Amino acid sequence: MTLQIIIALIVLIAIIILAKKLSKHKSLFPLMPFKYNFNLRRDTFKETLQLLEKRNGKMILETGTSRDGLKNTAGDGAATIVFGKWAKIHKGEVISVDISNDSIKGAQQGLHEENLNDVVTLHLSDSVAFLEKFNRPIDLLYLDSYDYSLHDTEIQAKSQEHHLKEFVAVEKNLHKNSIILIDDCDLPGGGKGKIVVDHLLKKDWVIVTNAYQILLVKKESIS
Ligand SMILES: C[S@@+](CC[C@H](N)C(=O)[O-])C[C@H]1O[C@@H](n2cnc3c(N)ncnc32)[C@H](O)[C@@H]1O
Repeated sequence: MTLQIIIALIVLIAIIILAKKLSKHKSLFPLMPFKYNFNLRRDTFKETLQLLEKRNGKMILETGTSRDGLKNTAGDGAATIVFGKWAKIHKGEVISVDISNDSIKGAQQGLHEENLNDVVTLHLSDSVAFLEKFNRPIDLLYLDSYDYSLHDTEIQAKSQEHHLKEFVAVEKNLHKNSIILIDDCDLPGGGKGKIVVDHLLKKDWVIVTNAYQILLVKKESIS
């Protein structure tokens, strides 16, 4: 009897531990294999891609590429690969720009492993310089370049200014149904989006979701 109680207790504890682990595991299955945890970005990635599909969007532009391929889904997001997978299914296209040769190399490796080279193009450049010259319409703009710091206020300000400059450079490529997603926002000091979101709200953009990532659309697209 005592042994039965002990076994039952062990099973119960194992179930509780498993349930706790599963509740923290934010998968993007079936788009991505279940084993990958997209953590704080899972819900906003999902919502963004659903909205993009609804709007028949095809062209995704990302600043700051997935330097670790799929190795850091929980920390960095691996958006280049996630968007690439989505683009492959929906006959879309991803363009990702990064200033670092190492980041481009890491992303290239990830794209190769996932067989996404035909739908994702990587560019080695400062994002603002690249966007100023970019001349195609963009359906989803994902801003996630200049790394943010949790403590260094100088880096925080530089990162925030850079993301504003990216929007200013690319505004000409956005249309009525374009979507903007900004990463690393819910952080001390306001995150990457602080200045650019204030700027967008003064223009014709509205926030659809305000979480770790901020999702915005044009007012006219929902009215
Ligand atoms: C957080 S990572 C991007 C993560 C990626 N979006 C993902 O989902 O996995 C930030 C990247 O921005 C790049 N970066 C920093 N400053 C940049 C700039 N001025 N122009 C373009 N990329 C830049 C870095 O080299 C780094 O690879």
